[in-house]
Amino acid sequence: MKNTDLIPEIANDMTPRKVKDSQTETHAIVHPDNTNALHNAFGGYLMGLMDVAACVVAFNHAGRKVNTISIDGVRFFRPATLGTILNIHASLNRAFNTSMEIGLKITETDPVNKQELPIAHGYFTFVAIGEDGRPTAVAPVEPDSDEARRRYEQALVRREARIALGKQLQ
Ligand SMILES: CC(C)(COP(=O)(O)OP(=O)(O)OC[C@H]1O[C@@H](n2cnc3c(N)ncnc32)[C@H](O)[C@@H]1OP(=O)(O)O)[C@@H](O)C(=O)NCCC(=O)NCCS
Repeated sequence: MKNTDLIPEIANDMTPRKVKDSQTETHAIVHPDNTNALHNAFGGYLMGLMDVAACVVAFNHAGRKVNTISIDGVRFFRPATLGTILNIHASLNRAFNTSMEIGLKITETDPVNKQELPIAHGYFTFVAIGEDGRPTAVAPVEPDSDEARRRYEQALVRREARIALGKQLQ
């Protein structure tokens, strides 16, 4: 499957879909060409990993081409040193009309107690692109857990803040 494919049975079906139907977890390893002068993963590399994982989620949900329109709330919590095995969690927080907010979290797993330690997080907004190259509607998402409901509610607050800030800075 390619992220340029159109999956008509998904793209044309506006029935609400569950968060778990599109979410993904991928992995990567910090190699020497991903590091900065401090020998830690550089931010652009981590953001690239998040963008790819978010694209997979948006494509899974929309069933058609998607484009990143904005990235915000990126925060780096601890350095990811050379050789670190990264877990990249990506989950659809909310679908609006043509846009979708995807929450991203990068962690590393403590090998002893198996606890996941936060490395970075962020919010990526994607837009579904129709045959005419313009934004097109996507199905709503149905939050299917308490955590998903919290993320769903907070996504609206962030969307309103983005819109308000955009207007204020015009
Ligand atoms: C994606 C693109 C086609 C959207 O077209 P547009 O005319 O700019 O967008 P619109 O004003 O119609 O808004 C589309 C959606 O984005 C949302 N949006 C607009 N600005 C936004 C922002 N700053 N943050 C989050 N969402 C935003 C709108 O609210 C709307 O969502 P909704 O339908 O769910 O309400 C166009 O902006 C584009 O091509 N951008 C470049 C994309 C790109 O190259 N990305 C990097 C590589 S993937």
